[in-house]
Amino acid sequence: MTIHATTPEADAVARRRTFAIISHPDAGKTTLTEKLLLFGGAIQLAGAVKAKRGGAATRSDWMGIERERGISVVTSVMTFEYGGRVFNLLDTPGHEDFSEDTYRTLTAVDAAVMVIDAAKGIEARTRKLFEVCRLRDIPIVTFVNKLDREARDPFDLLDEIEKTLALDTAPVTWPIGRGRSFAGTYDLRRNLVRRLDDDTEAFAVNGPEDGRLLAMLPEHERDAFAEELGLAREALRPFELAGFREGHLTPVFFGSALRNFGVRDLIDAMGEFAPPPRGQQADTRLVEPTEPRMTGFVFKIQANMDPNHRDRIAFMRVCSGRLTRGMKAKLVRTGKPMSLAAPQFFFARDRAIAEEAFAGDVVGLPNHGTLRIGDTLTEGEEIVFRGVPSFAPELLRRIKLTDPMKAKKLREALQQMAEEGVVQVFQPVDGSGAIVGVVGALQLDVLKERLAAEYSLPIDYEPTRFSICRWITCDDKLELDRFVNAHTSSIALDLDREPVFMAASAFSLTYEQERWPEIRASDVKDYQ
Ligand code: G4P
Repeated sequence: MTIHATTPEADAVARRRTFAIISHPDAGKTTLTEKLLLFGGAIQLAGAVKAKRGGAATRSDWMGIERERGISVVTSVMTFEYGGRVFNLLDTPGHEDFSEDTYRTLTAVDAAVMVIDAAKGIEARTRKLFEVCRLRDIPIVTFVNKLDREARDPFDLLDEIEKTLALDTAPVTWPIGRGRSFAGTYDLRRNLVRRLDDDTEAFAVNGPEDGRLLAMLPEHERDAFAEELGLAREALRPFELAGFREGHLTPVFFGSALRNFGVRDLIDAMGEFAPPPRGQQADTRLVEPTEPRMTGFVFKIQANMDPNHRDRIAFMRVCSGRLTRGMKAKLVRTGKPMSLAAPQFFFARDRAIAEEAFAGDVVGLPNHGTLRIGDTLTEGEEIVFRGVPSFAPELLRRIKLTDPMKAKKLREALQQMAEEGVVQVFQPVDGSGAIVGVVGALQLDVLKERLAAEYSLPIDYEPTRFSICRWITCDDKLELDRFVNAHTSSIALDLDREPVFMAASAFSLTYEQERWPEIRASDVKDYQ
């Protein structure tokens, strides 16, 4: 499809692809990320991304806890150019304890690559992340990885994707052999073959019986393969762009990230099929990416990326217009102007000052606590982007401060941590100590470590009698007040001073809901 650009903004938008990789741990996300960046020439050395298991240190390797546990706590973004396009790859933490971060990051992408281990198929975390993508109709390209190892039958894998995710599949390539016999892929649309040992040149063949194709496999596998490929060409669904863009159909690629095979076809497909930056819904209207005035929203805050500078970086997705270095923007939440003096782009190992950025780009905005998750920046317009959600925490703990003289400092530090999305903080209305809520237990460790390291605040956690937390709203303000007054020991205020009801068990929550039918209890809240 040719896009006839009429303005520099429209041209820039048409070239951009902003995406994330979703997968279950160990499926090969890190390896694939490295290979994608190599294509973009963003890094010279494979291995640069890998901060885990004692690999080369990277910028994302910024925190002791991350190094110790071999997990990536941070979400970052990597920008690279390939084939005339600008790719923004948003990295997501692999560990499920940081799933809140991942969900927020998925609000900032236009497409996703789903990596599946060919031996294991759809695993729990892939499925969960897929569901988050589906909520926003994010188109998914599937990469079946590790074909160089023992793998399941490709028909089986496609069937599993269709059944467990209720997603149509359209294989674009087909593996020639598997495991030890894996020799390359067959492009089903164009009848081209790529060899595992040299993927730069694809050669044309005359269908499944072609001698050059069959010669790639051991003799005893040839007949079965010709039959399999014939069936794949005839019986399986062809790729169809509209279905993909609407999120109903996933094109499927087979390969081996470790062998850097299949990655070229994958990235070409991202360029060709994946949508350019899409319009973003704000409270009052849909903001189109090609509009001339700059808008954007913050989906991630990261502190201390560079331990020597103690800086805080807000990651903002630009939604429209052109962001230029030094421009003044309005922070809609406070109504105050803000100078974007040093917006940054990120690469695998480096960052650089962004002179300008367009819709789909993610820029890092250094700040000292001015920006928080969910913030909207504009050139003056009063709009707020929707859809950076907060999820009801699954673990609640009361904070025990070892030095009670530091209560005020703790309050400030907790406010900051909540604004960064490290944890959620709830202040009980009865004046008792703050309660922190998290989705995964590791978030508690991160909070404890950061309070000690950055604020000299040693803390401990105490259990609370609560296990469930829900945001409460009611159309009738007086009824809400009555509910709050009747339950003061179970009500707390969140960061935005909105009330939550905390219950000891699902039973007591249901009990209260039955008694107070007008009160709505929700487990998700959009940031305002
Ligand atoms: P993740 O980020 O999704 O958790 O996965 P990662 O890329 O770290 O890959 C997990 C393991 O799978 C790694 O091995 C990696 O080398 C291997 N792997 C990734 N892609 C392929 C592939 O296409 N083929 C094969 N055979 N292996 C692949 P590891 O031994 O756990 O780690 P390492 O010691 O090699 O770093």
